[in-house]
Parts: sequence; structure tokens; C-alpha cells
Amino acid sequence: MKFFVDTADIAEIKDLAATGMVDGVTTNPSLAAKSGKKFLDLIAEICAVVTGPVSAEVTALDHATMMKEANVLKKIAPHVTIKVPLTPDGLKTCKALSDDGTMVNVTLCFSPAQALLAAKAGATFISPFVGRLDDIGSDGMGLISDICTIYKNYGYKTEVLVASIRHPMHVVSAAKLGAHVSTMPPATLRQLFNHPLTDKGLKAFLDDWAKTGQSIL
Ligand code: E4P
Repeated sequence: MKFFVDTADIAEIKDLAATGMVDGVTTNPSLAAKSGKKFLDLIAEICAVVTGPVSAEVTALDHATMMKEANVLKKIAPHVTIKVPLTPDGLKTCKALSDDGTMVNVTLCFSPAQALLAAKAGATFISPFVGRLDDIGSDGMGLISDICTIYKNYGYKTEVLVASIRHPMHVVSAAKLGAHVSTMPPATLRQLFNHPLTDKGLKAFLDDWAKTGQSIL
């Protein structure tokens, strides 16, 4: 499974990229606004740190303007992935860009039918938002299961990019279902490393080692 970080915080991206666990980055207009940076500069900065796909979202609602925005964003770096909303105009834009060899991430997916449309439009990634579905008492992971089944049935190449992840168990459940990518906040990626028994076991090993008075170096 690939891990993307869902943030526009450059310091966080650099810090986590150094662990070797970051395969890409997703941003959205809210995260970009929070960064306080100029959007094009922000995406360029992220692209300089991470070599995998970096999602940059268009903000227009109509196809023609989405295409114009995408053409600006594409020029930043070859690994910029154009993020479009799951709307008729977004999918039309997805089809045009995909036909042209540009990576596209279709965002704000909340149903299997929407995911099917995105695959037919040639999306590189579909982003189903599991946390936001869970938040309203729906079954986020059930959606991932349905999409994985549907895509397998037809051999669609579109990768399932599990988004709106809230905790490590979302990542584990998505991995068990065979989803291709999890995009998660930096804190969730850090949580994946942790287990209290690891800390406890390491402390016991090092306490015993200290008693020997030895040093490897
Ligand atoms: C994905 O690309 C989105 O940016 C993100 O996962 C949304 O997460 P949220 O529901 O926590 O805002």
C-alpha cells in the first residue's frame, strides 16, 4: 500500500519524507488556505520535496476553466496530479486530462456509483472520503470494499486512494481490502509507528544492556 500525506505543511512533509514512508502528497483548497502560502508556490515547494504524485485541486466549477487551471498546475512539475471534484464538469475534465496522459485524482467521492463514473472517465485515483461518511453514521469502509470489488470486476486501472482518514485502523482496514493508497494527516502516519509494547520491550532490552557495561562502538 502506498502512503500519501494529506497536508500542505512543508515542515511536516519534509519531516515525514525523511522516514521513507511518504509516496505522495494530497492537498485541498482548505489545506492550501491554512498554509497561508501562494498556491502555485506551495505546490512547487511540495514537488521539490516529494517525487511521487502531488495532488493540486482546481477551484473552478466549469469544464473550460478547470482545463485552464489544470494547464497552469501541470506546468509546475511532471508529478503534479490534477484533483477535480466528482461533478459532471469535473469528470469531463478528468477524461480530457487522462486522455492526454495527465494524472488525475477525482475527489469528494461518497458512493460506489460515483467511483464507477470516475473509473470510466479514466481517473488515475479515486478519493472516497471514509471519515466524513463515518461522521454522519454511514459506513466509510463499506464504501472502500464496494469500490475495490467493482474495480476488480471490470479490471479498472483507477487506484483507490482512501481519503479523510481519521486513525490507524482506517489504514489497516483499507489495506486488508486491498486499497492502493491511504492518504492521511501527518499525526496518523506517526501513530502507525507506535505500540506501547514496542516502547516497553525496548526499555527492558536497553536496561539489561546497560547492566553489561558494554558498548557496540
Ligand atoms: C483528500 O484528498 C482530502 O484532502 C482529505 O482526505 C479530506 O479529509 P478530511 O475529511 O479530514 O478533511
